[in-house]
Amino acid sequence: MKIGIAGTGRMGAAIATRLLGLGRAVIVWNRTPQKTQALAATGAAVAATPQELSTNSDIVISMLKDAAAIDATYHGEHGLLAGDVRGKLFIEMSTVRPEVERLLAARAKETGAALIECPVGGTVGPAKEGKLFGFVGGDAADVERARPLLKELCRRVEHVGGIGAGASMKLAINLPLLVYYQALGEALSLCRSVDIEPARLIDIFSDTSGAPNMLKVRGPAIAATLQGKETTPVTFDVNLIRKDLRTMLDEAAGLGVHLPLTAQALKRYDEAAQNGLGASDATMLPVYWLRHERT
Ligand SMILES: NC(=O)c1ccc[n+]([C@@H]2O[C@H](COP(=O)([O-])OP(=O)(O)OC[C@H]3O[C@@H](n4cnc5c(N)ncnc54)[C@H](OP(=O)(O)O)[C@@H]3O)[C@@H](O)[C@H]2O)c1
Repeated sequence: MKIGIAGTGRMGAAIATRLLGLGRAVIVWNRTPQKTQALAATGAAVAATPQELSTNSDIVISMLKDAAAIDATYHGEHGLLAGDVRGKLFIEMSTVRPEVERLLAARAKETGAALIECPVGGTVGPAKEGKLFGFVGGDAADVERARPLLKELCRRVEHVGGIGAGASMKLAINLPLLVYYQALGEALSLCRSVDIEPARLIDIFSDTSGAPNMLKVRGPAIAATLQGKETTPVTFDVNLIRKDLRTMLDEAAGLGVHLPLTAQALKRYDEAAQNGLGASDATMLPVYWLRHERT
């Protein structure tokens, strides 16, 4: 079975690396071709267009930035759905609004293909280790067809409903996490006069009810930022977080619900981006808030 991967940014490349490590036949495509070179060197075939990718794959995973990227990659002149894709299975993994996945699944169905969504929890490290959390939406038969592959990528695969349900779950789960980075920055600014080592400070936080699971994993990186170090490599950057928060707010507006904390958090991330942090890792946000002098 040939597995195609459309989008070899940080997450798509990590997923490709995982599958290559398991000995799977992997073919990749990326808008910026240079980002496929390292994968080609470790055994991936490279397609020149999304159409060539889907033509030569049995299952295609797409891991793209946002709705515009999905639109360009699936529906472009040489897009994923441009050729004969009858009988093929697409697994859409990007973090986007449920409506995007629903429309895409309907378009795929018109071409004779099947499409499920599986946005994921977890970042580059878990992706390389096959320890993502998959929030799956789609028809049961298609999900079962995808399950063996998803199990190679995810520590847990949850089929949460029809197409769109996975996107709703993913947006919902990211919400407290993204608000938390800002909350942690504010909490740390109350500790300015507490004179203990950053590593110990973050360790104390992470062992209390003042921390989500994320802090147990990313705590050392955050402690390092408190000592003035940059978090590298960047796995989840501030600009991508702004995209996620905007997506949540758009979705909430569509549902007629209010997310006041989320709206405030977005303003803080926007401000951080204006101050040069857009391409920096999320773990830089709390220390930015702590250090940035306000008038
Ligand atoms: N990073 C994380 O920790 C994380 C975790 C879970 C989920 N996610 C979600 O996973 C998705 C990918 O994230 P990432 O971290 O891999 O982002 P990334 O490194 O910025 O990669 C984005 C990918 O989208 C492609 N892309 C962007 N605009 C495009 C367009 N108009 N046409 C075609 N391709 C386009 C990029 O191609 P180029 O290389 O040509 O720009 C690249 O392959 C996002 O939806 C994100 O919210 C991320």
